[in-house]
Amino acid sequence: MSTNDLDQGISDLAQIKKQYVEQRSVFVPGERMAGLLKRLGATDADLAQLQRVSDDPTLPFRKSKNGRFHFDVENGTVDRGEFQPFVLSAGEDFVRHDSGQTREFAEIGDNLQLNRAFQALLMFKAFMVQDVEIAHRPKLDYDYPGWVCTLFNLRTVTTPELVGEPALEGVHSDGVDHTMTTLLGSENMTADSAITFLHDMRQNNAVRWDEVDPELVMGHYQHRHFLDTMLVVDHERKHSLSPVVAADQLRASTRDMLIFFTRKPAMEGHISHPYDSLTSHSSLPMSAGLLPSVQV
Ligand SMILES: [Fe+2]
Repeated sequence: MSTNDLDQGISDLAQIKKQYVEQRSVFVPGERMAGLLKRLGATDADLAQLQRVSDDPTLPFRKSKNGRFHFDVENGTVDRGEFQPFVLSAGEDFVRHDSGQTREFAEIGDNLQLNRAFQALLMFKAFMVQDVEIAHRPKLDYDYPGWVCTLFNLRTVTTPELVGEPALEGVHSDGVDHTMTTLLGSENMTADSAITFLHDMRQNNAVRWDEVDPELVMGHYQHRHFLDTMLVVDHERKHSLSPVVAADQLRASTRDMLIFFTRKPAMEGHISHPYDSLTSHSSLPMSAGLLPSVQV
């Protein structure tokens, strides 16, 4: 990438970050995002490949993979972290039948992590969260300069037999500091599918998206186009999602997302503490440079 492109990219990023800091959430349309990612080094081929990355016939019906990344702010790099089980608890405002249970997902591979558009999304996320004052969660190490980012590559599927709920748990938080969601693509989805609603923290957990207190709704966004991206301060706004509805009800519909959960490392006594290694992945290594931090 040229210095000029990078400078322009950073000034555009700083504008978005200012909006994020002021509103505690921000939505970046896919077209703007694509331009940004290109300034950060992504090619058209990277963008085209990213759109297809969720097409993986080896995955079972509910298609979900994850990978852990360490934003090593002191060294200015983002590094793939070694495999760890994943857990979210009711204490983190995640109330579901499997709250508190450790879960293991298939690992994302080089086809995603070596894609420069994906790496640019990680750079974008690290830039957005650095030096932003937020409400603290208990037992996370806010003195640590870097971040743990758990990435999910998720396909929600609706078939004639089953409605795909991107968030079956209803109103919830993700147990992190900053959540970012990026649409990779969708097929056969109605125009009012999969709307994300943001709620005041006083909204009760586990309530369905259409049964919430309207007075506590703080906004809504909808991912419609490739790279449409939402960022939210996770411990200041809860969220819920409407289901994926098939336009042609006789065919399946799909919605492919990247979800970036980012938080400070867990301390002793936190449910994720035993699963929060900062060691790099030995068989699937990846390391990319971070952008310089800019205060807004
Ligand atoms: Fe969520």
